[in-house]
Amino acid sequence: MQKLYIETYGCQMNVADSETVASILAEENYVVCQEMKEADLILVNTCSVRENAENKIYRRLEIFRQARRAKPELKIGVIGCMAERVQKDLIDNHGVNLVAGPDSYRKLPALVNELDFNENSIDTKLSIEETYSGICPTRLESNGISGFVSITRGCNNFCTYCIVPYTRGRERSRDPEDILLECGDLAKRGYKELTLLGQNVNSYIWEDKDSGQKTTFSSLMGLVAETVPEMRIRFTTSHPKDMSDDTLRIMASHENICKNIHLPVQSGSNKVLKSMNRKYTREDYMNRIEAIRTILPDCTIGTDIFCGFPAETPEDHAETLSLMKGVGFNSAFMFKYSERPGTYAAKNLPDDIPEEVKGKRLQEIIDLQIKLSLKSNQDDIGQVYEVLAEGLSKKSDQELFGRTSQNKVAVFPKLNYQAGDLVKVKIRDCTSATLKGDVV
Ligand code: 5AD
Ligand code: SF4
Repeated sequence: MQKLYIETYGCQMNVADSETVASILAEENYVVCQEMKEADLILVNTCSVRENAENKIYRRLEIFRQARRAKPELKIGVIGCMAERVQKDLIDNHGVNLVAGPDSYRKLPALVNELDFNENSIDTKLSIEETYSGICPTRLESNGISGFVSITRGCNNFCTYCIVPYTRGRERSRDPEDILLECGDLAKRGYKELTLLGQNVNSYIWEDKDSGQKTTFSSLMGLVAETVPEMRIRFTTSHPKDMSDDTLRIMASHENICKNIHLPVQSGSNKVLKSMNRKYTREDYMNRIEAIRTILPDCTIGTDIFCGFPAETPEDHAETLSLMKGVGFNSAFMFKYSERPGTYAAKNLPDDIPEEVKGKRLQEIIDLQIKLSLKSNQDDIGQVYEVLAEGLSKKSDQELFGRTSQNKVAVFPKLNYQAGDLVKVKIRDCTSATLKGDVV
């Protein structure tokens, strides 16, 4: 038995991929350990989406190198997006032994074995078909309640700022049979909630080789909801251009599909959206919001926004703020533009917004979102929600925390409940981040 220590950075896709990697290496007698100092092999699953994310990894690699000084047989591997983007430089300049890109995980056993007679090993070939079909992920760091199921890999959108199409390659969908098996497996193990994952889940498409029958995202979601009727279903991420009424109707007709949509808008300015190659306008986006409000009146909407894209004027920024108010987002991930080498923007659009302007704009976006989140939570006071308890609240062991179908965190008295229970909670109070309530 060898010990594997995995650290995961970036998006939920990476969390799901680390579970696939753990499963592949389990076949080679690697067991996952929780402490870095016990490890024979360290793998860091990495993110390249912003420069910050990469800098954090470089700092971690320094720590791992120090650990190897005390234990020379320790192997250090980088997997995921940064492995794909930075490649051999990780070996040459950052002390890494093994580099494997997002489509190379089946080769990990061979790459690890190669280290017995080579200083290092690398595989970063992207694939047009790898979906890790047939591999049952080893659930890591999981609370045993909520699990991820990846349904698509890669991305074909080529937003001009984004590194993902380069690090994760072309978009491909996974066989629905495989997906349903994995969902059923989670249910059997007592999981209560699953999240269908992909860079752009709405463009999921599978054509059966024999019958020619097509499975779309909405039909897949219906199948999942019916296969595991006792589980809650979530999904992320949706691209506004592919968010269809069909999907909204399937959500409306299944109680166990959670009423929350993560719909990254990125900017409120049509000029900026065009230069980002987002393929929708502000008006198109608002049309999708209208459709959500009409078909799913109790649905919350989250988003991703970033400021300081090349040539963003104060007026463009004001349009972002006004769109945020117009939608009334319930939550948002907010960033500053970070130029990524190799993207269209890096090659063609000068990163011309000064750092302090980016900082100021981001602060305005964050301040506004805190107000919108608070307002959204205040509107819930007096309402009763079903909360899936996930564990003890950070502040008190007399309280549990969990999520509503709308993906809001709620805290309530523990009483005799435990993680995994669905509890009806009447909201009494809130902050911008949390609902507080009593069991009814
Ligand atoms: N700079 C800043 N933010 C980015 N994102 C993606 N690429 C960049 C970049 N180059 C943000 C987008 C995306 C989220 C995952 O990260 O908002 O939706
Ligand atoms: Fe980061 Fe994007 Fe890669 Fe996820 S897919 S790890 S967000 S670069």
